[in-house]
Amino acid sequence: MGFKEQIDTARLPQHIAVIMDGNGRWAKGKGKLRVFGHHNGVLSVRDVVEGAGELGIKYLTLYTFSSENWNRPKFEVTAIMELLISTINKEIRKLMDNNVRLNTIGDMDMLPAKCSAELNNAITQTAGNTGLVLTLALSYSSRREIVQATQAIARKVESGELKAADITEEVFSQHLHTSNLPDPELLIRTSGEYRISNYLLWQIAYAELYFTDKLWPDFRREDLFEAILDYQKRERRFGMISEQIN
Ligand code: FPP
Repeated sequence: MGFKEQIDTARLPQHIAVIMDGNGRWAKGKGKLRVFGHHNGVLSVRDVVEGAGELGIKYLTLYTFSSENWNRPKFEVTAIMELLISTINKEIRKLMDNNVRLNTIGDMDMLPAKCSAELNNAITQTAGNTGLVLTLALSYSSRREIVQATQAIARKVESGELKAADITEEVFSQHLHTSNLPDPELLIRTSGEYRISNYLLWQIAYAELYFTDKLWPDFRREDLFEAILDYQKRERRFGMISEQIN
């Protein structure tokens, strides 16, 4: 029996977040340029998006480009931006066919104009889709997101719109880029690295963490299903004891 058949579809995580890592090492291992790894990483993105949709996952959030990634060699940054533009352009038909709604988080105004134009076009076109919500984290930094939320709340306090005592976890969440997303229950990181790398720090407070040695270009829907199965074997206690959960 494959992993998919073993999954209890009544207990799926609603939201899965992924740190796609290892494209560069994958390419290097094949004696190719890092960019070759990113191109193959897109094939994994496509397969995982299809697999998530087919299973009935509601939200998938992919760490596509961090704020720190701007510091990579210019050649690589340009190549990733161009890959993003061409991929969105090529995949839009497929997103429509699969009822996927595209969304982004991060500092979108940092992206090249052509890239944000392509993304905005795809976001508008897919806005009415009711299946999987695919969120790309682009120029994303969780700490920056938290600081921006704090600034926005502070401005409301200054103007008298909010009182300090009104600032609850819910209010804070509503000021994050992810205000329209539930918190992820499962976070997957590929490539054998055990780090969070400034990703969704607030939102993953109770997420189950899943690490795999597979490099991102080798990660396919079967690997996603395996991760979900592993998630379903865990007991999520949220600080309580086992007997209270069962
Ligand atoms: C991590 O591998 C990957 C990235 C920083 C870029 C991810 C981009 C893609 C998969 C392509 C575009 C995606 C979409 C959604 C169209 P790494 O370069 O950090 O690998 P390394 O750790 O081996 O150096």
